[in-house]
Amino acid sequence: MRSLVVAYSLSGNTKKVANVIAAGLNADSEEIRYRIQRGAFMNGLRIFWDIATGRAGDVEAAAKDPASYDLIVLGGPIWSWKPCGPVLGWLDANASRCRQLAFFCTMGGNGAERSFDMMAKRCGKTPVATLAATEREVREDAFGAKVDQFLLTLRSASDAQRF
Ligand SMILES: Cc1cc2nc3c(=O)[nH]c(=O)nc-3n(C[C@H](O)[C@H](O)[C@H](O)COP(=O)(O)O)c2cc1C
Repeated sequence: MRSLVVAYSLSGNTKKVANVIAAGLNADSEEIRYRIQRGAFMNGLRIFWDIATGRAGDVEAAAKDPASYDLIVLGGPIWSWKPCGPVLGWLDANASRCRQLAFFCTMGGNGAERSFDMMAKRCGKTPVATLAATEREVREDAFGAKVDQFLLTLRSASDAQRF
């Protein structure tokens, strides 16, 4: 199974989880980045605006072609009980080229299920597996069991579908 872990992380929590998932899957990795068109101040305002409105972020084009992978594992933080803007932006631009998707997120504690539902509806694809880790679990390195379960589900799906 050829896998790509794609993630946005503002303050590092999601990146930490993404790295562990990528190592477990022996996957390639890619960070989602905002397309920076103006100065840092305007860019900061735009992030704030995305958070306030829940809109999809204007992100850089994918460097790695999702169509050349069997599985895309997509993650980001929860913002205001919704998927963060950059994850929505990446999904809008690339979901049609993803064969199979799995979702993960980090959060203070609320909004994961709602966000996974929103992501699935937005792209019209059901995720093979989902994982939600809290800030506390990330801080205390206590998300290993969740990752193990997530990887197990992905591998079973892979066996069943012969990725
Ligand atoms: C603007 C903003 C809104 C947030 N909204 C939520 C929320 O609705 N529910 C929640 O559980 N956590 C919320 N959080 C917490 C983040 O989801 C959490 O800190 C996450 O781990 C950050 O990931 P990152 O370090 O990869 O950016 C919010 C954080 C920010 C900055």
